Amino acid sequence: MNRLFAHNYNLLKDNDERSKRVGILSGPWVSAGIAALFALLLCAGTPLQAADQNVVNIYSYRQEILIRPLLDRFTEISGIEVKLVSGKADVLLQRLKSEGRNSPADLLLTADAGRLHRALEAGVLQAVHSKILDSLIPAIYREPDGYWYALSLRARPIIYAIDRVNPQDLKDYTGLADEKWYGRICVRSSNSIYNQSHIASLIAHHGIAAAESWAKSLVQNFARKPAGGDRDQIRAVASGECDIALANTYYLARLASSENAQDQAAAAAVAIHWPNQDGIGTHVNVSGAAVTASAKNLANAIKLIEFLAGDEAQEIYAETVYEYPIRDGLAAAPLVASWGEFKADDLNLSLLGKHNAEAVRIADRVGWQ
Ligand SMILES: [Fe+2]
Repeated sequence: MNRLFAHNYNLLKDNDERSKRVGILSGPWVSAGIAALFALLLCAGTPLQAADQNVVNIYSYRQEILIRPLLDRFTEISGIEVKLVSGKADVLLQRLKSEGRNSPADLLLTADAGRLHRALEAGVLQAVHSKILDSLIPAIYREPDGYWYALSLRARPIIYAIDRVNPQDLKDYTGLADEKWYGRICVRSSNSIYNQSHIASLIAHHGIAAAESWAKSLVQNFARKPAGGDRDQIRAVASGECDIALANTYYLARLASSENAQDQAAAAAVAIHWPNQDGIGTHVNVSGAAVTASAKNLANAIKLIEFLAGDEAQEIYAETVYEYPIRDGLAAAPLVASWGEFKADDLNLSLLGKHNAEAVRIADRVGWQ
């Protein structure tokens, strides 16, 4: 398994080019100045601000408890220390934006292709190229220019009450617009990027008018004003407040594996229906990694993404976070595998970001709060 340690020639080239750019500053007075600066730094005992070969700094939306074992494994086999700042995805993105080029972060770990696109548009990412990443991560799950790479896959299927919904009545997402579901559907707010990305996928497939028509009918079938997160929608289905929810798969797994008996009971009261199996496939999204524009430990950041995309990390990651590995042929957690296989929408996920603004406008127009 030399994936991790195999030198990436593109990367080396990039680093060389960086050195050359730095080398443009030349001439005797510059040399003298640099020498003086070095002397000052040495006298003061101040560490140099140049790239530290043994560190990579991450801003992570993923809780430390979930990702630290993987990062420790990376350190064990690479010798690179991983420093982690955890926080909510939108807060971390805002922090990156305000820190700009001075940010200590080398790598951003965040969720949703829509949010990764937002980071790209904010100018806080840089494109990186790695033959290893290109071979490990399917093209639809990485940004075409190398600005982000997906590391896990999550699906957003229909979750229904076992005792009140006949799965024969369920088929595609479009079926949820039918009046037979009037007052029976729970979905979280359209402020959630998950719903924005779902609408964006419909725009990409069917156009703005069709996406808006669907969203309008869906809202008409809501059981209640959107409130809470995906877990709350599943709980509401279990408690009888609604019969159907749209929610990301890992939330169901978290309820099922919770130590809370009520959450376990909620998970047991619902089942998954995989929509669009005869057509475009179930809507999926990703979590991913992106190298920051400010990265001072560029090579280490890329090595870490390569490690996280490798077979060993993918299986541990999938087992820990209850998402799917990013490519076929790797094991999902047994609970996740028990839901059966499904056909995933193979839309290029960078399109979710491209259509995000239009998706938000649609949600506003149809009154999806
Ligand atoms: Fe989530």
